[in-house]
Amino acid sequence: MIPDRAPVEKDVYHAAPEVVNGAHVPNFQKYKELYLQSIQNPEEFWGRIAKEYYWKTPQTGKFLDYNFDLSKGKIYTKWMEGATTNICYNLLDRNVHQKKLGDKIAFYWEGNDPEDCMQVTYKELLKQVCKFANVLRSQGVKKGDRVSVYMPMMIESVVVMLACTRIGAIHSVVFAGFSAESLCERILDSHCSLLVTADGFYRGDKPINLKQIADEALRKCRDRNFHVGRCIVVKHLGVTEATGATDETCTVKASSDTSQSPPAKRSCYNLQITWNADVDIWWHDLMKGASDKCEPEWCDFEDPLFILYTSGSTGKPKGVQHAVGGYLLYTATTFKYVFDYKPDDVYWCTADIGWITGHSYIVYGPLANGATSVMFEGIPTYPNVSRLWEIIDKYKVTTFYTAPTAIRLLMKYGEEPVKKFSRKSLKILGTVGEPINPEAWLWYYNVVGNSKCPIMDTFWQTETGGHMMTPLPAAIPLKPGSATFPFFGVTPAILNESGEELEGVAEGYLVFKTPWPSIMRTIYGNHQRFETTYFKRFPGYFVTGDGCKRDKDGYYWITGRIDDMLNVSGHLLSTAEVESALIEHAAVAEAATVSHPHPIKGECLYCFVTLRDGHEFTETLVTELKDQVREKIGPIATPDYVQNAPGLPKTRSGKIMRRILRKIARNEKDLGDTSTLADGTVIEELFKNRCRTA
Ligand code: PRX
Repeated sequence: MIPDRAPVEKDVYHAAPEVVNGAHVPNFQKYKELYLQSIQNPEEFWGRIAKEYYWKTPQTGKFLDYNFDLSKGKIYTKWMEGATTNICYNLLDRNVHQKKLGDKIAFYWEGNDPEDCMQVTYKELLKQVCKFANVLRSQGVKKGDRVSVYMPMMIESVVVMLACTRIGAIHSVVFAGFSAESLCERILDSHCSLLVTADGFYRGDKPINLKQIADEALRKCRDRNFHVGRCIVVKHLGVTEATGATDETCTVKASSDTSQSPPAKRSCYNLQITWNADVDIWWHDLMKGASDKCEPEWCDFEDPLFILYTSGSTGKPKGVQHAVGGYLLYTATTFKYVFDYKPDDVYWCTADIGWITGHSYIVYGPLANGATSVMFEGIPTYPNVSRLWEIIDKYKVTTFYTAPTAIRLLMKYGEEPVKKFSRKSLKILGTVGEPINPEAWLWYYNVVGNSKCPIMDTFWQTETGGHMMTPLPAAIPLKPGSATFPFFGVTPAILNESGEELEGVAEGYLVFKTPWPSIMRTIYGNHQRFETTYFKRFPGYFVTGDGCKRDKDGYYWITGRIDDMLNVSGHLLSTAEVESALIEHAAVAEAATVSHPHPIKGECLYCFVTLRDGHEFTETLVTELKDQVREKIGPIATPDYVQNAPGLPKTRSGKIMRRILRKIARNEKDLGDTSTLADGTVIEELFKNRCRTA
């Protein structure tokens, strides 16, 4: 499956000698050798890696046991039977005590405003985590309990996540851009007993009153008879709770001691928050008296580590559940090899910790390796479009991992804002989240990376926990837009409609044949949905939902989703989720949503709505509908286009033909096969009503 030799054509990008020197995997032959070992003898391969980590008790039973075939019974994956550990212990105590990295910087935190920054060492992080773990215990949180985390990009978010894992509690981080309704839905689904949030934060120059959204989510939970016992609030912007007035000082947060009440960051901030003394409690009040020693809870390799919600094609988000041991081994190993990590590197991943990329490659992977990372609260265009490049120079970042949407956004401003900064520390670049178009790839490579830094185009999913298809910096020559080859332990296949494996040059469904350590273990509270979603269509395989091509050199090219999912700025959304938000409006009888190409976001939402009798399609209605989706799901789901559709194209059995709607949105007159269309007369009207698209 893996060719013997890497291609040599000139459209292939080979690593420069400085990348190859000292690389963990210096050439293609070595990659192939290690890959074959990992596939032929997973026990030896992963067993050797496991020895680098701390196990309270060793493996006693089978190394790997699994079933991917529904006809043989329940789907499961179990590794290293009998082994117990604690992931927080491996990330912090092991690095501080055994590796003597206590004084090494774990995070450089860079705030939304350039002058707002701080840093935290491994030793300090361990203390803060122990304190908050004790706080959680004092609030009655026990092993297996779910804790909801709704926080901006701040060190305290990492502290909460690791404190949960220290006591065996399960964190469920909800991206701080999600709405109150989305937060409520996620709290209810996983029955979280406690919520941790912050007063507010800035996104560029826009203040976000996070506490107010969290309050509304908790009120919605109460309306549905679910009571979250406690809401712990981190004072990030420095509001005072009683009056909602702002502290008058304007000081930069410079201390990493998160148990102190931080000073206000801005003097002119007029955020109002309400305080419910029965539920709300300030973080710093709880941290003040907490001990910084906390015995970890020893967990089974297969114990749940966290839940992270991802969109599902039925519209109801899926609580993807990962397991302690496998997630540790896989995120640590992918981080080490894919970014060719060296102890002096300064690594920066621009994702938000509310997504899987933030979990795996801001928190777990880098800390497991004892790495120094930059954590950035702001956005690429504030206070100006050079911000990312300025940060790279400020911290001498060696490894930079971002999303194609950010690259496309910054490309718009030309080379000058990039070239104002040297970026000479950069060694390795990465992308994730969606296919990267060759034009963006080349700009990233030539302009940002000065034509010397290889780009790791990493394909993976919330469900996979870590990189699945990815280059390795020195070993795999690059083709712009290809995620290249499988990582160690990953067995991809391309299937046709009938489920047959295709060899050689081929295009079809991307599946995986065997488990890797960080495969999701279940959907929280709904194992059957897990089995149906990922294992039913092609028995014996994990189905990704993505299409894929293999070229003559064996390179894999991800072609995008082949289900009812959309990828907006690298974030998955389901059409059903957006449609149900639209239908809740009194004027809407029916709605259909399709993806539409967008120059920066990759894809955006184009919605068709059929109105109820007596309602008129107006500009005001369009604004109301956009607001409604924003309100229900969050700003990322705001439709770009809403079109009036007196009738929708349907099959005779009543299924909406989104394929046709996609063509109408793009003004493509060749609709392909329309023989199953029940009523062809709707088409002309739909073309007539088209929105003018960019
Ligand atoms: O469609 C693929 C796309 O993002 C989906 C996974 O989304 P999510 O679970 O939110 O995780 C995103 C971060 C890992 C995939 O099914 N995707 C992700 N990375 C790539 C990609 N598509 C093409 N190339 C990639 N490198």
